[in-house]
Amino acid sequence: MNPPVLDISGLSIRFSGRTDPVLALREVGLSVQAGEIVGIVGESGSGKSTLALAVMRLLATGASVTAGSVRFEGKDILALPEADMRKLRGAGMAMVFQDPMTALNPVLPIGTQMMDVLFRDPALSRADKRARAVAALKRVGLPDAEQQLGRYLFQFSGGMRQRIAIAMALLQRPRLLIADEITTALDVTLEAQILDLLRDLRDEIGCSILFISHNLGAIAAICDRTVVLYAGEVIEAGPTAKILGAARHPYTKALLACDPSRIEIPTRNLPVIPGEVPDLSAPPKGCIFAARCPAALSRCVTHRPVKSLVGRDHSVRCHLIEGAAE
Ligand SMILES: Nc1ncnc2c1ncn2[C@@H]1O[C@H](COP(=O)(O)OP(=O)(O)OP(=O)(O)O)[C@@H](O)[C@H]1O
Ligand code: SF4
Ligand SMILES: [Mg+2]
Repeated sequence: MNPPVLDISGLSIRFSGRTDPVLALREVGLSVQAGEIVGIVGESGSGKSTLALAVMRLLATGASVTAGSVRFEGKDILALPEADMRKLRGAGMAMVFQDPMTALNPVLPIGTQMMDVLFRDPALSRADKRARAVAALKRVGLPDAEQQLGRYLFQFSGGMRQRIAIAMALLQRPRLLIADEITTALDVTLEAQILDLLRDLRDEIGCSILFISHNLGAIAAICDRTVVLYAGEVIEAGPTAKILGAARHPYTKALLACDPSRIEIPTRNLPVIPGEVPDLSAPPKGCIFAARCPAALSRCVTHRPVKSLVGRDHSVRCHLIEGAAE
């Protein structure tokens, strides 16, 4: 059997700087199979972007991997020389960010940027590169693609910018696309269009997608499996239908209770999870959610729960859950 496209195991990441070190990710594990769309959901600060940037090996200076591994198609990418990593970025794995204006170059025409992406392929003539750029823009639904090559990003609307960013990421047909909150700034109609586009592209190209969002509706729409991150730890993971329809962890349940799309009476005040995310410079030694958990037991404060399997491919980290320890 082929190895997963992405296999993260026991990954811990620390940020050190002028303040106390922040333990942003602790013993995170997840895998993405070929052609699969895996969602990562969690509140702000839970470590979603840190995880994505670690996979691309684009973490800020001051970040260090203190434990664990990241394997891409079986290869330990944390051990790869930077030159090999550069080759992998783009053709192997590509990332799209929330704000294309900061991720792409605002002072170069989009066509120039797209042809630059293909510069490494000596077999392609300039005309071929141009044709590829036009085809990619057409594929993501940009009207009059040929005429758009000379325009700049600021001349497009938010939804069109995100389509251009996706076209650019897909030019080299990567095996893994990482999408970090790419629909967060869009209204619901544009969001639905971008989600449809991602799903169609996955079907056409066969790439895997790591889809990061704090929006459970978006996760529900396209993810085969979902991983719930809380304060840098995976607290529940499983098939999306199970996570959204039969959640077992108190944090996942609280997140679902706060989801605006699930609240039946629109005038009702939105519930919020009481309390705050723990200080990640000194994470608690027991359960990471203990301070906010309505069901906490005394051992939750003193002992960290183990990861238990509660169904096929469904795991939970909570003392209340009886399952097969992993
Ligand atoms: N460059 C950095 N230096 C220091 N700490 C950082 C840095 N980047 C992130 N962190 C810290 O790491 C933790 C995880 O941040 P991260 O940005 O990964 O969360 P996130 O889930 O992507 O949040 P959001 O939903 O707001 O994008 C936070 O406590 C954050 O303050
Ligand atoms: S381990 Fe305890 S504190 Fe943590 S989620 Fe379960 S019941 Fe709540
Ligand atoms: Mg983020």
